[in-house]
Amino acid sequence: MLKGKPFVKWAGGKRAIVSKLISLSPIEFNTYYEPFVGGGAMLFELSPKKAVINDYNKELMNVYSCIKDENKFTLMCKELNKHEINHSEEYYYKIRDLDKDSKKFNKLIDYKRAARTIYLNKACFNGLYRVNSKNEFNVPFGKKTKINTYDGVNLGIIYTYLNLNEIDILSVDFEEAVKDAKKGDFIYFDPPYDSDTNTFNSYTENGFDKDEQRRLAEVFKKLDKKGCFVMLSNYNTPLIQDLYKDYNFNYIKVKRNIGAKAKDRFEIEEVIITNYKND
Ligand SMILES: C[S@@+](CC[C@H](N)C(=O)[O-])C[C@H]1O[C@@H](n2cnc3c(N)ncnc32)[C@H](O)[C@@H]1O
Repeated sequence: MLKGKPFVKWAGGKRAIVSKLISLSPIEFNTYYEPFVGGGAMLFELSPKKAVINDYNKELMNVYSCIKDENKFTLMCKELNKHEINHSEEYYYKIRDLDKDSKKFNKLIDYKRAARTIYLNKACFNGLYRVNSKNEFNVPFGKKTKINTYDGVNLGIIYTYLNLNEIDILSVDFEEAVKDAKKGDFIYFDPPYDSDTNTFNSYTENGFDKDEQRRLAEVFKKLDKKGCFVMLSNYNTPLIQDLYKDYNFNYIKVKRNIGAKAKDRFEIEEVIITNYKND
């Protein structure tokens, strides 16, 4: 089976460690839940037949929904072709700033919003998705004179995957996204990282602080009690060690690159935590 690849660059993307995540996944499970799906590296590699995918980012999840719908998919690609032709610094800021008029932006048809999200991801500085407290996209121009916004073959593979399988697409808070999970289901949590330094974690207008990490750990425990297979990745920090001390830790060194400067590239220890053992 052909597998899709992430169609956007996403901070915290899991492409580099996806084979490790797969090797730590349960061999058999019922429904797969990915409440922080982002660019979908793990989803595409695992390619489960039944899944609930979610991210709080509505613009991102709208892209998944548009790829799944044949008509919207075609229109979105046409719109992307238009963006590629018109691409310039001035054009970038015109498309980026559409969300400054929230009334008008909310009326923008879904496939055009999806194309805007992909275009901004490819044309902005370093492929970051960052919004301000008013939920306005605020990443500057990436200075590329020519851009390629999509790989038609890859999007075709994703379209087929989303349609030939039972995939529900949500955009809610993580706790809500897993509320129907049952015994035998597999949940993979890839939340914004816990960090004491200034690492990027402002994916949403609300951010994700230590209280959110604690709330997530409670949800992890509830799912564990229900008999679900639960896996979670994060940085190896004292808080994460404490919150998940009753579970299994796997350590992995990852090269992260979140900015353009040398100080933004670093090797860090990440952990993959599971409530089961599959060896
Ligand atoms: C580390 S990233 C996930 C990266 C993803 N696994 C990938 O491979 O691209 C964390 C994601 O959590 C989302 N997020 C932040 N707060 C959330 C919440 N309360 N509920 C659900 N998703 C949330 C962000 O929008 C972001 O996409």
